[in-house]
Amino acid sequence: MNNDFRSQFPILKRKINNETCVCLDGPAGTHVPDSVIRAISQYYKRSNSNVHGAFTFTQETDKMMSDTRSAVADFLGAPSLNSISFGQNMTTLNFSLARAIGRHFQKGDEIVITQLDHESNRGPWLELRHLGIAIREVRITKDGHLNYDDFKEKINDRTRLVCMGYAANLTGTINNVSLIRKLTYEVGAWLLVDAVHYAPHFRIDVTSLGCDFLLCSAYKFYGPHVGLLYVKKGILDRLPTDRLRTAYQHAPYSIETGTLNHAAISGVKAAIEFIAAQGNGGNLSSKIDDAFISISNHEKKIGQMLYNGLNSMNNIEIIGPHYDTNQRSPTISFVHSEYSANEICQKLAEVNICAWSGHFYAIKATEVLGLEEQGGVTRMGISAYTNEDDIDRTLDFMKKL
Ligand SMILES: Cc1ncc(COP(=O)(O)O)c(C=O)c1O
Repeated sequence: MNNDFRSQFPILKRKINNETCVCLDGPAGTHVPDSVIRAISQYYKRSNSNVHGAFTFTQETDKMMSDTRSAVADFLGAPSLNSISFGQNMTTLNFSLARAIGRHFQKGDEIVITQLDHESNRGPWLELRHLGIAIREVRITKDGHLNYDDFKEKINDRTRLVCMGYAANLTGTINNVSLIRKLTYEVGAWLLVDAVHYAPHFRIDVTSLGCDFLLCSAYKFYGPHVGLLYVKKGILDRLPTDRLRTAYQHAPYSIETGTLNHAAISGVKAAIEFIAAQGNGGNLSSKIDDAFISISNHEKKIGQMLYNGLNSMNNIEIIGPHYDTNQRSPTISFVHSEYSANEICQKLAEVNICAWSGHFYAIKATEVLGLEEQGGVTRMGISAYTNEDDIDRTLDFMKKL
């Protein structure tokens, strides 16, 4: 990605004490390009309104909502815009889904979750225990992978749903969703994928993945704070979601409660078009395909630089899969032999390097890996706008610590 790409992000030009910031905070939310900011402000300036009315503003809002659903369908490889629902964020959508699925399942049914997942893909399912639904938890290995032998043991003919992440926001691990899809098909269980951490870095194709549900959040891929849900055709219509009798009773609306954040949703479309503009192709979908080749390659190169630099320091231990031997997301978490993660982030902040410390809500994994008592890990995330200078500045500083 070139300087022209970077120059589209106003925040990257901001100086604090006469210096620009190195933004390694992408896994907690990426920054936003001008085109997304413009789309949101244009919506307020031109069309600000509620949906389904007669006048021009509301009809433009209807069109924008449907065009955005269509862009999200292309972004996720979904066959139809009617399989895409909007929500406040991934966590809220997953809680809504879990409440509906809880009403649909029966006592004795089983749901499989994993220790590697963000709490937003664990907590909503654990809540269902009070209905007599059993929750089975797949263990992780010391190097931050899912234990697939354990996974196989946990799936049986009582399993109705498996909830797993596509990529882990703590360790960068990419999970073998296709393998689990095969196992869930064998027992007739649904598969739900949390793609929040995967979506900014790699192309998603729900059709070839075959998952029943997939969630992600636009603020992780250069957009505003909006949650996105894909549900395979026919399933949402069968689920007793929370809804008013005045609302649409069918997919994709039946899980959307109240008035949505229309302005932000207009920014979701702009974020997808921004990504697509990094690629070539005859339509939005093929541009997204091509764009993700460039984004993934760039991020891998920069991520590997950061990984190798940190890995060569004696006082640093990287948590999670090795870069050379694994496909992983460019998110690098580590512990330091002398300073806590919080202390490191404080020191980095003093030189305008933005990184996060702690468990990032992947608290089960930090507990199981024995990292929680020491305050978790320092996490540095590569985004498409991260460049070699950012990594040089970060590694120079880390060497002097
Ligand atoms: C892997 C993963 N899943 C889920 C979430 C929750 O997303 P949201 O903030 O949209 O609820 C996050 C947020 O950091 C995440 O990293």
